[in-house]
Amino acid sequence: MYSDIQDILYSEEQIQDKIKELGECISADYEGKNPLVICVLKGAFMFMADLVKRIAVPLEIDFMAVSSYGNATKSSGVVKIIKDLDVPVEGRHIIIVEDIIDSGLTLSYLIDVLERRNALSVSVVALFNKPARRTVELEPDYTGYVLPDEFVVGYGLDYAEKYRNLPFIGILKPEVYSS
Ligand code: XMP
Ligand code: MG
Repeated sequence: MYSDIQDILYSEEQIQDKIKELGECISADYEGKNPLVICVLKGAFMFMADLVKRIAVPLEIDFMAVSSYGNATKSSGVVKIIKDLDVPVEGRHIIIVEDIIDSGLTLSYLIDVLERRNALSVSVVALFNKPARRTVELEPDYTGYVLPDEFVVGYGLDYAEKYRNLPFIGILKPEVYSS
């Protein structure tokens, strides 16, 4: 599995350091609030688990699964809710936890859904951001690392459902896609 990786972009340690910083910012901004932290499955599961440990305010968690990609590496532009939230968002401060923002389509759709359900506020924390690929105007409130326009895997992110368990984020060797 490790031999499929061409380059490691950020190590496990770099990712954890960044998450600590993000957690400190979010803790300061949400003091006295009780946010509902929403993990966008599956890619954000690892980030979510590490991030909430670094947020020092009372919070609740929930999960949502959406699909926009299938097994391809390019967005189809179609967003579908596969698993919805268990709790209502009306009147809640929402923090959406995303692994990576690429075109921005998934998030702009999600933000729209949550606002129409009358969330009190909606903010976004994305561990990785690929601003070069944006097709809709959208900037996360909290960003971990800005990435080049490359398809990345690891730390929750997959290619055809593989590589999510890598502890770092890296670029696959081109031959992995073509084989
Ligand atoms: P959009 O284009 O809607 O995409 O911003 C967001 C979702 O697409 C997935 N995505 C990736 N997954 N490596 C991955 O494994 C990548 O480089 C990549 N870029 C986008 C991801 O699931 C994200 O939530
Ligand atoms: Mg994915």
